[in-house]
Amino acid sequence: ASTLGAAAAQSGRYFGTAIAAGRLGDSAYTTIAGREFDMVTAENEMKIDATEPNRGQFTFTSGDRVYNWAVQNGKRVRGHTLAWHSQQPGWMQSLSGSSLRQAMIDHINGVMGHYKGKIYAWDVVNEAYADGNSGGRRDSNLQRTGNDWIEVAFRTARAADPAAKLCYNDYNIDNWSWAKTQGVYNMVRDFKARGVPIDCVGLQSHFNSNSPYPGNYRTTLQSFAALGVDVQITELDIQGGSATTYANVVNDCLAVPRCAGISVWGVRDSDSWLGAGAAPLLFDGNGNKKAAYTAVLNALNGG
Ligand code: G3I
Repeated sequence: ASTLGAAAAQSGRYFGTAIAAGRLGDSAYTTIAGREFDMVTAENEMKIDATEPNRGQFTFTSGDRVYNWAVQNGKRVRGHTLAWHSQQPGWMQSLSGSSLRQAMIDHINGVMGHYKGKIYAWDVVNEAYADGNSGGRRDSNLQRTGNDWIEVAFRTARAADPAAKLCYNDYNIDNWSWAKTQGVYNMVRDFKARGVPIDCVGLQSHFNSNSPYPGNYRTTLQSFAALGVDVQITELDIQGGSATTYANVVNDCLAVPRCAGISVWGVRDSDSWLGAGAAPLLFDGNGNKKAAYTAVLNALNGG
């Protein structure tokens, strides 16, 4: 196959990208994205601050722009993200306790209700675990509402849209030997044991010198999958853009039957949140395919 999406589809997987609504007027951008990818994540437009700027007032103008572009171009959509300590609108940042808990529930219902039946998978909870060696939860206003906030979010999400896969999504959970990975693993194991609805773990997989691609990445993917969830590589970028590392990531996903697909976090290097200088993506700023692109395509095509 000659595009990333078609090559991934040969094994029943998808290959996606983050899309920014503000770039949809750039025809070089939409030409590449339209051709290569078959899954779309809104880079910012479905976040809490974007969709509920005032309490109880939902706005989907930008989210729908990304959603409609994706669907009109034959792509599926991942929803990102419903419960997160970051990108909270001011009104939510100032809440705590039971009123914040209720606001989280109302937010999940409002956003998932709008997109009901239309989303492949939602990042229900994003980045709830702490960095470092604790293996525990990140401190946040949501965490301070009670340790059960994550399972409440997932139960709310299941009821709001039973058709969507429900993911827990985080960064630095790629290395099997890291405490954060083990913390998330233990949570998912506990959820499966107690019947808390969860369908997938999203590994953001932002690789750089501080959190490099680990040699045990495949073990991590296999271990989560063995709990009975899909794994999705949700925000892949690799600082420096090593073709070898990109191929390793793809081959690790292909080796794990429940690795459902891969999304990169942007189209061209110039679209990356890391800045073009990081050169972390598959196309350069002029839209040319990089060596990393060829390595990914070849791997998806079986070698
Ligand atoms: O749109 C405004 C613009 O009007 C304003 O002038 C400008 C000045 O600050 O800000 C613009 O908004 C920025 C937005 O990106 C769009 O470019 C925000 O400040 C900036 O905070 C925001 O950053 C995003 C970041 O999440 C916010 O948390 C990045 O684009 C986005 O790539 C990044 O994505 C996250 C995932 O959601 C979760 N995992 C990590 C990943 C990378 O940080």
